[in-house]
Amino acid sequence: ETASAIPTGEYDFVVVSNRLPVDRVIEADGTASWARSPGGLVTALEPVMRQHEGAWIGWGGQPDLEFEPFDSDGIRVVPVPLTAHDLENYYEGFSNDTLWPLYHDVINPPTYHRDWWESYIDVNQRFADATAAASAIGAVVWVQDYQLQLVPKMLRELRPDLTIGFFNHIPFPPYGIYSQLPWRTQIVEGLLGADVIGFQRVADASNFQRAVRRLKGYVTKGTQIEVPLVDDSPGVRVFGPIKRQGSFRTVVAKSFPISIDAASFEALARTPEVQDRARQIRADLGNPKTVMLGVDRLDYTKGIGHRLKAYGELLAEGRLNAEDVTLVQVANPSRERVQAYMALRDEIELTVGRINGDYGTIAHVPISYHHHGYPREEMVALYLAADVMLVTALRDGMNLVAKEYVACRFDEDGVLILSEFAGASDELKRALLINPHDIDGLKETILQAIAMPKRDRSARMRSLRRRVLENDVSRWSTEFLRVLESRAHHGSEGHAL
Ligand code: G6P
Repeated sequence: ETASAIPTGEYDFVVVSNRLPVDRVIEADGTASWARSPGGLVTALEPVMRQHEGAWIGWGGQPDLEFEPFDSDGIRVVPVPLTAHDLENYYEGFSNDTLWPLYHDVINPPTYHRDWWESYIDVNQRFADATAAASAIGAVVWVQDYQLQLVPKMLRELRPDLTIGFFNHIPFPPYGIYSQLPWRTQIVEGLLGADVIGFQRVADASNFQRAVRRLKGYVTKGTQIEVPLVDDSPGVRVFGPIKRQGSFRTVVAKSFPISIDAASFEALARTPEVQDRARQIRADLGNPKTVMLGVDRLDYTKGIGHRLKAYGELLAEGRLNAEDVTLVQVANPSRERVQAYMALRDEIELTVGRINGDYGTIAHVPISYHHHGYPREEMVALYLAADVMLVTALRDGMNLVAKEYVACRFDEDGVLILSEFAGASDELKRALLINPHDIDGLKETILQAIAMPKRDRSARMRSLRRRVLENDVSRWSTEFLRVLESRAHHGSEGHAL
């Protein structure tokens, strides 16, 4: 067979992510349909998708779900079905019990299983095959996140005509941590199949470049990596770069901090319904002087326990009183079949129960705890109702909750407490930045936030808002695609977006 055995498709712009941007909903009469999920990524990419022939490749969110590609508001949705075995090994296993903890500073110990790795290769290959089949000659393909790090190389092997971008939404760890991974070289090679590799923080991009130098010996210059066209590297190289001859392709690895659709959050916050709802929330909580808010996926990277410890101690010491302060904690259920997430849930719910039992009164519960997701309208009302927003992540690629809070506060009020371990802290410098491991420091900062005079709150919020409203998600995608497109012109058959 010739290369033409690989079918080419009709789409000029193809996005690939583990999850599709649609959720399957079952109607009352039992028929199934799809609803657009409200993520920022799809909002940002929708105009580009409409302008070109755009397709989105991903998993439909349920095991063994097979369906035909369909159009959803101008986006071609193409499924990659995953079996129960794939979910256990590729998704829950390698993606979320190996890579996720490894890339988040080993907060939880990663598990290394060779059969999970086999499944990761297998599923990544199926994503690459589906992408190759959907992409037109010279198309631009944008692969998303840590679940699909082998796809760029696999795709380049199938389709050297494509321009391939990759964006890592989570941190890329320092080499001393990354080097634990038994398959560290294969992952780096997988990513280097891309023309542009995007990271959240400058530090993530330089961690990746260091891994490339250590594992492959390739030369890096600023944001550029020189990848030899013929790889003669004899495996792991520990003594640094080797003088190479011959030609190489240039891969760009740099930071593109992601954001949210800030204007749409603000617009929602400005609606009378949402403002009424915010007042109602405060009234339902018994109109405490201060409402604090935490909004997280229930994940061990989010530092929810550290936050509760600080708050519990302030209550125990009588420096805060449940009559005056309520903490609303929204904990979105996540990855509930992974052991570490089950253990975390037990630990958090035990702590919440203890604090409420020890310091609550009949009229006032210190923590209003919610183990479920809410529609966006309700989230925006909560942001408006919250005097203090607590983002205490131990490690977080970006943390979009911090940006959502800021975008909603058109009243220029509210105090953001933000972990320096969240990518958002690189930009949101006028938040109250904290080290969540420093419980005493966190306690002082909570008291400072509660006591902060209005003038100071407004000055800080104004400056935060300028950042978030300017650097929104459409700027992020435009900038990434601009750099990606400029790489396309270096190749022979690049396709301009
Ligand atoms: C993080 C990851 C995403 C992931 C999301 C939800 O934000 O960067 O890739 O989709 O968490 O996790 P889940 O495992 O439910 O897709």
